[in-house]
Amino acid sequence: MRTGFSESAYRVEVFLAIMKRKLDYLQAKKRNLDPITMITAYDFPMARLADEAGIDAVLVGDSVGTNVLGYASEREVTVADMVHHTAAAARGIKNAFLLADLPFQSAESPSDAEINARCLLGAGAEAVKIEGGAEKGEIIACLANKGISVCAHIGYNPQLHGMKPRVFGATVDEARLLVASARKLEAAGAGLIVLEKVCEEVAGIISQMLRIPTIGIGSGRLCDGQVLVMHDVLGMSGKTFRHARSFINLRELTLGAIKAYRSAVETRGFPGEKNVHHMNPEVFARLQIS
Ligand code: KIV
Repeated sequence: MRTGFSESAYRVEVFLAIMKRKLDYLQAKKRNLDPITMITAYDFPMARLADEAGIDAVLVGDSVGTNVLGYASEREVTVADMVHHTAAAARGIKNAFLLADLPFQSAESPSDAEINARCLLGAGAEAVKIEGGAEKGEIIACLANKGISVCAHIGYNPQLHGMKPRVFGATVDEARLLVASARKLEAAGAGLIVLEKVCEEVAGIISQMLRIPTIGIGSGRLCDGQVLVMHDVLGMSGKTFRHARSFINLRELTLGAIKAYRSAVETRGFPGEKNVHHMNPEVFARLQIS
């Protein structure tokens, strides 16, 4: 038993650390008023670290486009990109619930949505995320009826609104629209819902009203869980966003490490004696190369 923990609390902690998270686990966390943790990851090492850190859910977001692939916007991300990155992330995950984004224009009709969702599930995703409001209800219902778990995503939708983020729900009309969309998407069969850049008050009303978990990004403290982009958590981009927090400045640390490597090579400080493989001296003595 560890100091500071009761034996039962310790057992619960160990159990949670080794437990595979499913959608119903996330839903139970909401009922228990226990905050749900979600982070994006786009490859094997970062997904493995998120999993090891005990994060509940990993999202292979279409933000892979701007954060990893060097695209100008999420709209350039293809289903093939998402499959490639989802498969890599899936290989790093043991316990976390894995979601993947259906990218721009990949879920315009129920049949397209189903074909593309099945590609993501085949790559290891356990649920797909679809951006859009009430108009996505029919597509979400079709997927849910076929047993595919879906995460809805309302408020700021980069696929629909482009690279011009703004806050949603600041007027009575827009707040009502968001509440109505959230209700409709839950009724359609969404298993959880991301609220992006929604006013805290409106996100609070939606979170109270829905049975499914709300996962906020830039939507305040009243959501059932939070999601952030891995690169923002790690301070990789050098940018700061009001909705996010960098828990480390990995950009500076990485830049410093690469510069130190460069300088070590340029000054012949690397490789050192301990990085070298030697020939047996007797064999070397016999080596005559003309
Ligand atoms: O693609 C993404 O990273 C997302 C999150 C911002 C929720 O959709």
